[in-house]
Amino acid sequence: MTTHANIALTRFLIEQQRAGRINSELRLLVEVVARACKQISVAVGKGALGGVLGEAGTPGQASINVQGEAQKKLDVISNEILLEANAWGGHLAGLASEEMDTSQPIPDTYPHGNYLLLFDPLDGSSNIDVNVSVGTIFSVLRCPEGVSSPTDADFLQPGTAQVAAGYCVYGPQTTLVLTVGHGTHAFTLDREVGSFLLTSRDIRIPEDTREFAVNMSNQRFWEPPMQDYVADLLAGKEGPRGKDFNMRWVASMVADVHRILTRGGIFSYPLDGKCAAKGGKLRLMYEANPMSFLVEQAGGAASTGRVRMLAVQPAGLHQRVPVFLGSRREVEAAVGYHRDFDARLA
Ligand code: AHG
Ligand code: MN
Ligand code: MN
Repeated sequence: MTTHANIALTRFLIEQQRAGRINSELRLLVEVVARACKQISVAVGKGALGGVLGEAGTPGQASINVQGEAQKKLDVISNEILLEANAWGGHLAGLASEEMDTSQPIPDTYPHGNYLLLFDPLDGSSNIDVNVSVGTIFSVLRCPEGVSSPTDADFLQPGTAQVAAGYCVYGPQTTLVLTVGHGTHAFTLDREVGSFLLTSRDIRIPEDTREFAVNMSNQRFWEPPMQDYVADLLAGKEGPRGKDFNMRWVASMVADVHRILTRGGIFSYPLDGKCAAKGGKLRLMYEANPMSFLVEQAGGAASTGRVRMLAVQPAGLHQRVPVFLGSRREVEAAVGYHRDFDARLA
């Protein structure tokens, strides 16, 4: 990893602005999100000492979010940190979060900006209490022309409309990974100084890989093309793929995607019998789209298995999708199994 020790996120963003790639409003927006991520990083790092572990709600009465999932205390804390940080800066028209039923316009007491911010405040909730990496994922869209108080419908833009996206992974290091549509770049938090420093410019994902990430316990619920694809991966050197594959599954999408940006691989959360009625497990607007933008900007590919992720026209804020992303040729291979299967059916 190349080190650019003297380039802080602030300087990087000013240089992007001078190059005409972002305006001052978007620069401020990214700065504010990064500051919120630093606060979340501190909360995550305190763990049991900060009383932030465990479920939200009262004993015996878990707090359930719009996704139908029990909220952890850190899901709620992270959501509040992001809301509080972004409400007053004047760069946003509205916000939407995995943890909130509907989108929220910026209150009239604050100036309104031209952008919409969407986030998964804390990704990998099942890993909080066991001290394994978690993260924050975010996506930025333009507010439609002439709209100052956006509703959910104004957020329903395909991933290609994103103007910025990123995630912050809270692991052994706190790392912010960002794209404003000109490459994917990583910044590591210098905890003593309190600033994010550029540690990897223009990340490139290797096109080929021998590593896959999937929750294998769902195998029997997968649809046939996914069964066939993974069977061939597992067959290794002796199988049709002609090489041995290794498997990794952190169960925090941020951590799995971070590994793939660092050394390649394919991440998948396919359609399965348990989540089919919902359309998949992962959320298009808060997880799949921002990660797909980052991966494409690093030379990788991202698909639902059948169509390019960023081309999906969202029908709902909390829409779920099947996800395949990472090393370009491996994603193409997985998509090929779906295409062949669909062609046989036709
Ligand atoms: P979240 O914590 O925001 O609900 O997201 C969890 C997601 C994702 O991070 C991860 O890849 C997946 O759920 C883990 O699912 P399994 O429980 O099937 O491992
Ligand atoms: Mn998530
Ligand atoms: Mn979450």
